[in-house]
Amino acid sequence: MTNTAQIGLIGLGTMGAMLALNIAEKGFPIAVWNRTTAVTHGFKAEAGALAPMITATESLAELVAAITPPRAIVLMVPAGQAVDDMIADLTPLLSAQDLIIDAGNALFHDTNRRAAAAAKGGPRFLGIGVSGGEEGARHGPAIMGGGDKADWDRVAPVLNAIAAQYKGEPCAEYMGPAGAGHFVKAVHNGIEYADMQMIAEVYGVMRDGLGMQAAEIATVLRGWNAGVLQSYLIEISAEVAAATDSHSGKPMLDMILDRAGQKGTGRWTVIEAQHLAATIPAIEAAVMARNLSSRLEERLAGEALFGAAPQPTTSVTLAQLEQAMIAGKILCYAQGFALISAAAKAFDWPMPLPDIARVWREGCIIRSSMLNDMATALSDDAARNLMFAPFFADHLKASHGDLRAVVAAAALAGLPVPALASGLAWFDMMRTGRSTANMIQAQRDFFGAHGFERVDGLADKHGPWAGHGL
Ligand code: 6PG
Repeated sequence: MTNTAQIGLIGLGTMGAMLALNIAEKGFPIAVWNRTTAVTHGFKAEAGALAPMITATESLAELVAAITPPRAIVLMVPAGQAVDDMIADLTPLLSAQDLIIDAGNALFHDTNRRAAAAAKGGPRFLGIGVSGGEEGARHGPAIMGGGDKADWDRVAPVLNAIAAQYKGEPCAEYMGPAGAGHFVKAVHNGIEYADMQMIAEVYGVMRDGLGMQAAEIATVLRGWNAGVLQSYLIEISAEVAAATDSHSGKPMLDMILDRAGQKGTGRWTVIEAQHLAATIPAIEAAVMARNLSSRLEERLAGEALFGAAPQPTTSVTLAQLEQAMIAGKILCYAQGFALISAAAKAFDWPMPLPDIARVWREGCIIRSSMLNDMATALSDDAARNLMFAPFFADHLKASHGDLRAVVAAAALAGLPVPALASGLAWFDMMRTGRSTANMIQAQRDFFGAHGFERVDGLADKHGPWAGHGL
């Protein structure tokens, strides 16, 4: 085997296969390996005009020998133990200058651990978040990199070439050391969960509250996709709402069980937000809604016991729903960016917010025209909460009344809108100068003598109940 490949790739599942074709198409000779050899040969056999760029290998040793040193090898294997196993198998075959790139959806703590182990010797290690599903992997994903900058720079020509391009700018960026890239990818997925959930909630208001058919809902979503809400997720939601089931002839959506799956990245985001004391209630609500969706039997029992919520409503207009969705979306992105800011501070990682918004403009699942405005708003002041950026503050001033009207009408009709409602509660708390936490402080002082600060600055830190505590 001659070492002519510029890069290697392990794991020819859907995402790995698409990424390998993308790399080959951009002019980089690639060596590939899959645990099942038949899959490797089948992949090359079906690569058509790209086949000459691909070296199919039958063992890890053969794969390593096929790549020009210092080598770069992309792992596209399931997150978790499979990544550790693959690193363990590769390590004896590689030199300390070779580079392993984990392109799966890894938990960033795992990436931190693997990067720390690599720093002690052995092959180099990069963790990159890759978003865009099958289509993105094949024709241009968004890429969020973490590890040593020098290692990123070494493979940046390949990553920039295979990434989605936004007006000629590659949607690939270095986020910071170790797990920074996978952290940003997890937040991307948290936002993805919330954006999807909010769309599902307005779909629910249209379906159950306004009694609209799937095809009518598709038309509304298509209209929204031509405006401020233009995004991949609204676009595909319109498409799925318009689709017909070939078996029953009914709308496809009506035939799909309302039990949503998840691989866990949204949950990781919420857990990390709690560790960092970052507030991401819209994302938390979306994860909660996914968890609850799987409890179908309990929900059916609840419906039988408490009567069939939801009820029709006439007190919401489609225009209000669109504005509510705009406000909800801004709030959920503001929460996601604030979480990244908190992590950047806590871990001392660069994670440049304007660059993150730029990377997300194309290729990834949450791509939308609003992200371009977010990139601009964050460039003006990278430390600012997005909801305070003048452009988005104006949007929120114009739309929060409709978000309020939708959440209120939904509550009265028993239509669950947890992500929209959580976004609204966050917005209201964020604009309440005098909150109710004085009551919390008084309670804490009463039962635990924890003390409080006074509004008048006096030094007396306890209430007249002192000594009444348990
Ligand atoms: C992406 C997606 C992707 C995600 C899967 C499954 O950015 O391309 O976020 O990485 O992991 O679509 O996600 P769930 O199973 O958790 O919904």
